[in-house]
Amino acid sequence: MPPKPKRIGILTAGGDSPGLNAAIRGVGKAAIGFYNMEIIGFRDGFRGLVEDRRLKLDKSTLAGILTVGGTILGTSRDKPHRMMIDGRMHNMTETIVKNYKRFGLDALVCLGGGGTQKNALRLHQAGLNVVTLPKTIDNDVSMTDATFGFATAMDIATEMIDRLHSTAHSHHRIIVAEVMGHRAGWLTLGAGIAGGADVILIPEIPYDINKIADAIRRRSKNGTNFSIVAVAEGAMAKEEARAYAAAEARKERAKSQKEKYAAKVELATLESRHVGNTTRLAKHLEELTHLESRLTILGYVQRGGTPSAADRLLATRLGCGAADAIEKGIFGVMIAAKGDGTEAVPLEKVAGKRKIVPVDHSWVQTARRVGTCMGD
Ligand code: F6P
Repeated sequence: MPPKPKRIGILTAGGDSPGLNAAIRGVGKAAIGFYNMEIIGFRDGFRGLVEDRRLKLDKSTLAGILTVGGTILGTSRDKPHRMMIDGRMHNMTETIVKNYKRFGLDALVCLGGGGTQKNALRLHQAGLNVVTLPKTIDNDVSMTDATFGFATAMDIATEMIDRLHSTAHSHHRIIVAEVMGHRAGWLTLGAGIAGGADVILIPEIPYDINKIADAIRRRSKNGTNFSIVAVAEGAMAKEEARAYAAAEARKERAKSQKEKYAAKVELATLESRHVGNTTRLAKHLEELTHLESRLTILGYVQRGGTPSAADRLLATRLGCGAADAIEKGIFGVMIAAKGDGTEAVPLEKVAGKRKIVPVDHSWVQTARRVGTCMGD
């Protein structure tokens, strides 16, 4: 009798990003067509495994999705160990382990960003054969050259910055463009350089508003009465960054649950005060420079729509890498992009380690060389 085909589960978790469907297709096509495995999708992230939201994936469900944005599986930010069920928080890890066995799975592929890597590690430690792929427009997953979704989001943000140039120029205005990226500046920095922003503000380099105003005034003195300021949603002024760093350090040093909770509350307060930061920045720059200013929040368009060729290629490569790892019995790993190839990196090395922009990164140096004000 031929051996029973391996059966793998797949889910997408966290914020969606372009390239998820290309990755699902990559895993699925390699698993079904190349390795003769079976594949089952779970809808809406880890919740799909808890609530038995299965979707059988076969050649026909995988057809035609390479170019489609979002994820055919749906996604959610649910965590296995803290899931809201009937209005209360529950640890659903055991249920997931039980269902994994009940559905006869040999492996589970989780596509996601930093949070998903942590959750996948928890499930691996609970005994599941887990393989992950790095997805996020923020590009902040450690141990991989890149995450899929980032290249497309950078293309979109760049195009939007391009478009802001002509209107800023025509009206002699400052246009502040808020770019996504959570607490990492990759997207703003990449799109800012590619789109020729005059000022680029990222979370890794806290800014001094006076330095930004000086740079804009210098441009005006030289006859250029408009400026594009690309700001990461997580960018902060120096004072705010100091308060954050102090609260983070208190959280790290906390010896008791009580101290940890207090530091978490402090961080949450700082986060809520940060809301509206770019609105205040635009207003403040107008006051300091006497140039009319406007704010454009690029928002979710950065995550939507068809993936770029670069992301389709990356997602397909990584997806096939996941099927290869499962065939070889390599688990508890993230399939990372390394040069032209892929590498299976232990999840312990990835989980909880955000990849932020080093302040001396070559992209930062490039921005400075072409005269971009980095706000410091
Ligand atoms: O992680 C991707 C991302 O788009 C971040 O850039 C952004 O901060 C966040 O997700 C927005 O989250 P949500 O989709 O939950 O609003």
